[in-house]
Amino acid sequence: MIRVLYIGDVVGQPGRRALHEKLEHVVDRERIDFTIVNIENAAGGFGVTEAIMEELSELPINAYTSGNHIWDKKDFVDNFDHYEHVVRPANYPAGNPGKGKVVRQTAAGVDVAVLQVMGNVFMPPCENPFYAADRELGEITAKVVIVDIHCEASSEKQAMGRYLDGRVSAVLGTHTHVPTADERLLPNGTAFQTDVGMTGAYDSVIGFRPEEALHRFLMNTPRKLEVAKRDIRMSGAMIEIDEITGRASRIIRIHEKVED
Ligand SMILES: [Fe+2]
Ligand SMILES: [Fe+2]
Repeated sequence: MIRVLYIGDVVGQPGRRALHEKLEHVVDRERIDFTIVNIENAAGGFGVTEAIMEELSELPINAYTSGNHIWDKKDFVDNFDHYEHVVRPANYPAGNPGKGKVVRQTAAGVDVAVLQVMGNVFMPPCENPFYAADRELGEITAKVVIVDIHCEASSEKQAMGRYLDGRVSAVLGTHTHVPTADERLLPNGTAFQTDVGMTGAYDSVIGFRPEEALHRFLMNTPRKLEVAKRDIRMSGAMIEIDEITGRASRIIRIHEKVED
């Protein structure tokens, strides 16, 4: 049995602070074998930089996922292919930098595959994520497979969970930044949660200050979003998986508050 920790979208400096203050503690407490962190919002809410990748390299993180915001910082995107353990949605058009899946080993030598696909509902248009998942899974031989479904619609995330039930160890949602209370094991042994939530400031609108977010909704004109700073939490899920069969036996929510 191995334990995988999945940490949801890290938003700006407060999110990174939560990782620095809480990640190692949770990895020790929960006896985690493999940690995955979503970094699409790590740099001021928009993308990630090489400097931040360097900063995070001191933490016990085995692989990173991202999403639609991974393209926001040019210095990282220009060097994306140097970052072997960072994935982006597999269903972006061919020719973009980066890749949609990675396989890495735990300290005990268990292969863990991490695959990300992006939904089509209210998201940038990309290849159908269900067919993309079929194709990508056909190239994965690891038994333990974690899939990040990065999208807006709960229905699309739940449909992906059902589609991949019994074929992967876990299907976990990201992108909406709100942790859902529906973590469970699907009938054929795949762990599922509609959204694992964000790691950042919860006194906010999905990690950003309400002032600017409200301006956009009330005035219908642009306003640059600023990262919020209060009520910082690290949010994610822990999944127990039989490494021989790849089936999950347990999923729990992880929610750690950082002291102000
Ligand atoms: Fe996000
Ligand atoms: Fe996103």
